[in-house]
Order: sequence, then C-alpha cells, then structure tokens
Amino acid sequence: MAQPGSYEQILDPANRANPYPLLAELRKTPVARQEDGTYVVSTYDEIVALLHDPRVSSDIGCLAESGSAVPPLDEGPPRLPLPFINRDPPEHDRLRGLAVRHFGPPHTPGRIDGMRPWLTEVTTGLIDKFAGKNRADIVDEFAYPLPVTAICKLLGVPREDQPRFARWADAIVEATNPSTGTFEQRMRTRAQVMAELGQYLNGLADAHERQPGDDLISGLLTDPGPQGPMSREDVLATADLLLVAGHETTVNLIANGMLTLLRHPGVLDRLNREPGLITGLVEELLRYEPPVHMLPYRATLADIDIAGTTIPEGSVVCLMLAAASRDPLRFPDPDRFDPDRSDNQHLGYGGGIHYCFGAPLARVETQVALPELARRLVNPRLVTDPPPYRPNPVLRGPRHLLVEYDAVVPAGAPVRVASPGGG
Ligand code: HEM
Repeated sequence: MAQPGSYEQILDPANRANPYPLLAELRKTPVARQEDGTYVVSTYDEIVALLHDPRVSSDIGCLAESGSAVPPLDEGPPRLPLPFINRDPPEHDRLRGLAVRHFGPPHTPGRIDGMRPWLTEVTTGLIDKFAGKNRADIVDEFAYPLPVTAICKLLGVPREDQPRFARWADAIVEATNPSTGTFEQRMRTRAQVMAELGQYLNGLADAHERQPGDDLISGLLTDPGPQGPMSREDVLATADLLLVAGHETTVNLIANGMLTLLRHPGVLDRLNREPGLITGLVEELLRYEPPVHMLPYRATLADIDIAGTTIPEGSVVCLMLAAASRDPLRFPDPDRFDPDRSDNQHLGYGGGIHYCFGAPLARVETQVALPELARRLVNPRLVTDPPPYRPNPVLRGPRHLLVEYDAVVPAGAPVRVASPGGG
C-alpha cells in the first residue's frame, strides 16, 4: 500500500485528475528519498536552487551510465545525438545559442509575434467547424491540431506530413512516462521512434538545403553561426526536440485553460469584457494547472546538501514543478486560481539554463486560442467534470474535454458581454 503523497501515488493514473492534495502531502518532506533511490524534491526554494546548480545534470546518457538506480542502455538502433535539453554546458549553451538565433530577436525579430495573424486564422478555422452541432471535444478538435500546425509551420514541415508527425510526437512523449516500463525500455522505444523521425527529417533537411525557405530548419542548416554552424545531426536532433517539446505541452495548456475557465465562469465572462486579462491569466494557468508536472530525470554530479538532506553523487533527482508552483511559502493562497495574481514567478517553464525555449510561442498560441473559444462558444459547459486524463504524470492534461454549447458566434461578430461578476 503506497504512502499518502508518495511518488508512487502521484505516478498512479488513478490520481491524475486531482494530484494536488498528494503534492501538498509530498511538500511536507521537501527532499524525499524513494525506495529505488530516486530523490523527489517538491518545494519552491529547493527546486529553484537545484535548477540553477551546475552539479545537477540533464544528460540522460550520464544517468544511464551512472551506475545508480538506472540500468545502462544497451546497443539500440542508430541514434541522433542527444538534443540540447538533455545536454550540459558547454554543448547545451552552444546548441541553444545557435537555435535561439532563429526563434526571435535580435536575429529573427518578429518571427513568433509575426505568427499571431496566421494563428488567429487557424484558430478561427478550427472553431468554425464547431458550428452546426452542440458538442465538441476541445482536445481532439482544437487544442491538439493547433500546436501541431504551428510547430510544423515553424519547422517547414509540409501540411500533408503533419499526421505522421503527431504520431511520432505521441510515441516520444509516452516514453517520458516513468510509470510505464523500465527506464531502459523507455529509452529504447524513444530511440527507435527518434530514429524513424530522424530519417524523415533528414529527407526534409535535404529538400530545405536544396531550396531554403523562411523556416527554422532552413535557418539552422544555412546559418554559419558565430563560432561555426550546427552539424546536420544536431539540426535533426534540435528539430526533433522542438517538435516534441512544442507539441503536447501546448495542447495541455490550452485544454487545461479551457477546463479552468469552465470551472470559473466569472473569469470566462471577464475575459470577454477585458481582453487584457489574458496575459496574467495564461501565467496563472502555468502555475495553477501546469502542463509539465515534473522533471523526472536529473542526475547529481556531486554530493549535494539541501534542506537537511545529502543527495549523493550519481543519484536520480525528480523535480516536482507542480508542487513548487503551489508552495504556500512562495504563493499566498496557492490553491486559488487568480488571473490577477502579481509576483507570479511560477515554474511552469522550468528555470535556469534549460528554461523553456518555446515560451514565447506557447504564450502567443494560448493568448490567441483561449479568448477566441471564450468569445465564440455561447453558454459553454463541461459534459464531464473531471474529464478523462492521459495517464502520463509528467505531461499532464485531459485526454478529452467534451464541451456543450448553445451556438457558435460567427468569426467576425462583436464580443458578447455576459453578466458581470461571478467567480
Ligand atoms: C505551454 C507550453 C510549454 C510548456 C509548459 C513548456 C515547458 C517547458 C519546461 C518545464 C522546460 C524545462 C525542461 C527542463 O528543464 O528539462 C522546457 C524546455 C524546453 N522547451 Fe518548452 N514548454 C512549452 C512549450 C514549448 C514550445 C512551443 C517549444 C518549441 C517551439 C518548446 C521548446 C522547449 C525546448 C527546446 C526546451 C529545452 C530548453 C533547453 O534545454 O535549453 N517548449 N519547456
């Protein structure tokens, strides 16, 4: 029988709909050693300290070789190099630095913000399809297709190839789930899917090299960089990473966002009256219902003393971001959804050198998507609360979000203003 608030209970899919009481229990032991030797860290200050500590590694290769709780990987199919999310400095910094040149200012100003009109068009098209019926699945019909379309456009993936991309991304995400199989099995599955995807991306890179376009893969391939270009293998690993990191996370933010608005109808009405509310609202969502609940695989490169515990060198550390973002020592009234919250330094995008690279894109997508849903669905309501969840405890979000509504407001129609107030 698992202890209340134990890591085991948090991983259990039966607790996916509301893990927050378990996370509160877990915070009572800020650094908790598990039977398998993993250290689970759950309080804000401790997680921030570890995110900024160079003795904490993100290199999953080093995890597998550390001789700790994680068994070594054997030979698998041919693999791409690890993407920069799983590397440490100096390689992490070099590769992230090269990638970021194609993601916004100063080298490509306006790349992400310039996607706003196009994202609005895609959003409008998806909501138009809700007309003529009274029920939609906000996950399958909206939150899922929007980020895939966006990341594929950014990478220069042709529209007809998007369904294949979505399948690969799903398989890679599933390999992050610590509750399915051993680390070794998951890494092998991940390597197989990455190899397939790598082959596809290699063909795409050939095409972009012959005829470069205004997309990220073309940019990475042709950029000489300040200290030399990115190798072809690293371009492919980076494209893989962007595809996976930029996909299910944003799906979950949009789906969690709509779920939270439907549970707080007063905030939904306010959003229609006060468009400016969306900025703080999205940040509060990242704190209150974060798409990334934990970073399960960090490794210690030395003994680390923290909160009265010594985490020995070579240990696996899991950083429970979702617990930190509701830590009452950091956030007053942390279980309250408050889009007006100031001083909201949530950990939804992580922190330190691996702070989310795609945060500007995720923000723009969600800032476009949620107000459009709020504006166009008349009298929206949840069909089932809680909705069914995906089993994955790392990237947590609803599998379906069935919503009923009375009608769909035409795309260009003015904002309906519902009764003021409410919560
Ligand atoms: C709501 C949506 C998103 C959330 C909640 C999210 C969350 C995160 C978190 C928590 C990390 C830190 C991982 C770690 O420290 O190991 C991260 C890193 C990263 N994210 Fe996101 N992400 C989102 C969207 C995106 C998008 C749209 C992209 C790409 C277009 C993206 C690309 C990345 C990359 C490349 C990294 C690795 C950064 C590095 O290692 O330096 N993310 N993200």
